[in-house]
Amino acid sequence: MRKMIIAGNWKMNKTPSQTRAFIEEMKPLLAGADAEVVFCVPAIDIIPAVEAAAGSNIVIGAENMYFEEKGAFTGEIAPDMLVDAGVKYVIIGHSERREYFAETNETVNKKVLKAFEHGLTPIVCCGETLTQREQGITLDWIRQQIKIAFLGVTAEQAASAVIAYEPIWAIGTGKVATTEQAQEVCGAIRALICELYGTETAEAIRIQYGGSVAPKNAAELFAQPDIDGGLVGGASLKTDFEQVVKFK
Ligand code: 13P
Repeated sequence: MRKMIIAGNWKMNKTPSQTRAFIEEMKPLLAGADAEVVFCVPAIDIIPAVEAAAGSNIVIGAENMYFEEKGAFTGEIAPDMLVDAGVKYVIIGHSERREYFAETNETVNKKVLKAFEHGLTPIVCCGETLTQREQGITLDWIRQQIKIAFLGVTAEQAASAVIAYEPIWAIGTGKVATTEQAQEVCGAIRALICELYGTETAEAIRIQYGGSVAPKNAAELFAQPDIDGGLVGGASLKTDFEQVVKFK
């Protein structure tokens, strides 16, 4: 039985002091949630977030990570820095990183492998543009993204991973995918994991939907058989997030 995982992706929002205050505010609201609750926060907010979340059910994640161990990579964050700071999850290959920071399926794969090497759980993002959806190539595109992201990943590692399906046209637009569209792609992702690794891994891996998730649509989306929670942008910055986490 998979445990639901609802993760906030704060993107480039909240200062360290705002982070501390918000997590203090959210702790009592999220206490006792059935789902696993994660806040993926900007690098500079990780330490205050981990400190503020101590002793609660809130787990802290990062939004990105570099694939090298250390060295002359100005501005980048190494995997062991995240581990040492208390991070458990790391978002890899978000569409905004692919679009604005030239991430490719190949760099995503290197980061996924490096995250596992350090015991971090990657939240591997995939998703199509509106043009791709209209061209009818959504499933081909997503299969390619996931196949490359998981090259060299073992079945045991894959079983512990999280995949986030985020149609690009639904991110920050208020235009949520229909429940059928979200389930169709999440189901296809699970079928691909089954092809690559077998049933046991496919039954264990958790697949999130992301893109304009809000209190009003969370219950319906998260009730789908292949949707194991959400990756939530805007709605994770406000106390409304409680209603997304306690969607039932
Ligand atoms: P929104 O929930 O703001 O649409 O963002 C989704 C997202 O990109 C989460 O990673």
